[in-house]
Amino acid sequence: MATLKSRTIKPIKFLNLPLHQRALRKPLLAAMTRVLDGAHFILGPEVQALEKEVAAGCGAKFGVGVNSGTDALVLALRALNIGPGDEVLVPDFTFIATATSVLLVGATPVLVDVEPGTLTLDPKLAAKAVTRRTKAIIPVHLYGQPADMTAILALAKKHKLAVVEDACQSLGATWRGRQTGSLGDAGAISFFPTKNLGGIGDGGMLVTNRAEVAAHVKRLRNHGCDQKYIHLELGYNSRLAEIQAAALRVKLPHLEKWNRRRQYLAGLYAQGLSGTSVITPSVCKDAAHVFHQYAVLTPHRDALRKFLQVQGIETAIHYPMPLHTQPLLKGLASSKAAFPVSKRAAREVLCLPITPELTNAEAARVVEAIQAFFHKSKYSI
Ligand SMILES: Cc1ncc(COP(=O)(O)O)c(C=O)c1O
Repeated sequence: MATLKSRTIKPIKFLNLPLHQRALRKPLLAAMTRVLDGAHFILGPEVQALEKEVAAGCGAKFGVGVNSGTDALVLALRALNIGPGDEVLVPDFTFIATATSVLLVGATPVLVDVEPGTLTLDPKLAAKAVTRRTKAIIPVHLYGQPADMTAILALAKKHKLAVVEDACQSLGATWRGRQTGSLGDAGAISFFPTKNLGGIGDGGMLVTNRAEVAAHVKRLRNHGCDQKYIHLELGYNSRLAEIQAAALRVKLPHLEKWNRRRQYLAGLYAQGLSGTSVITPSVCKDAAHVFHQYAVLTPHRDALRKFLQVQGIETAIHYPMPLHTQPLLKGLASSKAAFPVSKRAAREVLCLPITPELTNAEAARVVEAIQAFFHKSKYSI
């Protein structure tokens, strides 16, 4: 096997944040300067403007800036009166914050397996998990692909469940033409730096069409007060920093172009990998996927990952453990279920580089390397 060193090939990074920021360095610095000069660092004009811009982009009436996607989930649940004694349906295959947000409000997450094609919450299994204590459901638009919102909204309507969309990975993705985040009672968005719209630190936003939910989250993010020093309920300090909002406003106008670039690269991967035995992401016909991650499945995941690493190609595993195996969640009654799909996903998933900065030539190199792995190695194509 030719090694990276012997062929002196440029490595292909999984993420290249310095390169991503470089193109916007000037406007980003100008935005930082604007905030420094204005010295209105907390809940100032940048946050207010970003809230309007993101909400409008999501087709939602309100946006409330908070300090992370996790807090957007927690505050959404609080505002929807989910708490001790309540059960909330969450997928078993997601980032831990989807479930910990439920624990943080004192409710019980009920883990549900995901669909084999999209790896998003399986609505049929969710229906079976509903009890008289179920009060909410959190579909996760995993990797940038919307969950089956038609089925989930129907289930929620039937059982009067609140729907909090975990749209932390899916800003710009649509389900039947409607933006994720705006389909349920509330949507949680993350601006973690690696997201499709990433800040220069932590950040998040809740979007909603319900005025009372937006107003309640505004109060909760600011120590439970609407009026200075009058504290109506137990709140948090979870305000989106002005400097983050200013940086995000520089990047937001580029999001659509970046998402289109991710979709184009996904097309190159899908075409190039069609002759190999890796399973490429299946995109539901009702969904516009924004490929926060490009996740393939193969039983030879670990060997393939090693092979790609030797070729200088970085990959990542999102996620190596289904939630039911997390030490934190093992005590849940629902953790005893079987979860065949999420278990397999955790064993077989491999995320390929798919940032907007990835060149066509780099994507072609990734494809060639995967093809070579299956041709040259003992693993059948
Ligand atoms: C699916 C999902 N939910 C929730 C979160 C939490 O977002 P944050 O890191 O901004 O708290 C993330 C971010 O990693 C995520 O990917």
